[in-house]
Amino acid sequence: MWEQSCAACHSLAPGKPSPNPDAPNLAEVRPTREQVRRAVIDGRPGMPKGLVGGDDVDEVAGYVVQKTAS
Ligand code: HEC
Repeated sequence: MWEQSCAACHSLAPGKPSPNPDAPNLAEVRPTREQVRRAVIDGRPGMPKGLVGGDDVDEVAGYVVQKTAS
């Protein structure tokens, strides 16, 4: 899901720039689960809202936190 909906813009790997220069590397942002949920549900400048919906929001948020928290 990350690959399909998010990876076109965001990097999730430390030191690797995002494909879309406006999109932060989430390994550097290290967002909380709630921050990811809000970004996906509400969108952000340059990031469409509702890229994934329903249970997928929690799933992708959990994935991002798991990948970036350490
Ligand atoms: C079309 C490109 C694009 C896609 C696709 C995209 N994003 Fe973003 N995202 C952005 C941009 C640009 C920003 C920075 C917006 C800003 O300046 O506030 C951002 C910001 C964020 C932030 C940080 C929000 C904050 O509170 O600072 C998170 C978390 C995030 N995106 C998660 C995701 C997730 C998860 C997905 C996949 C479901 C995704 N993004 C898909 C472009 C994208």
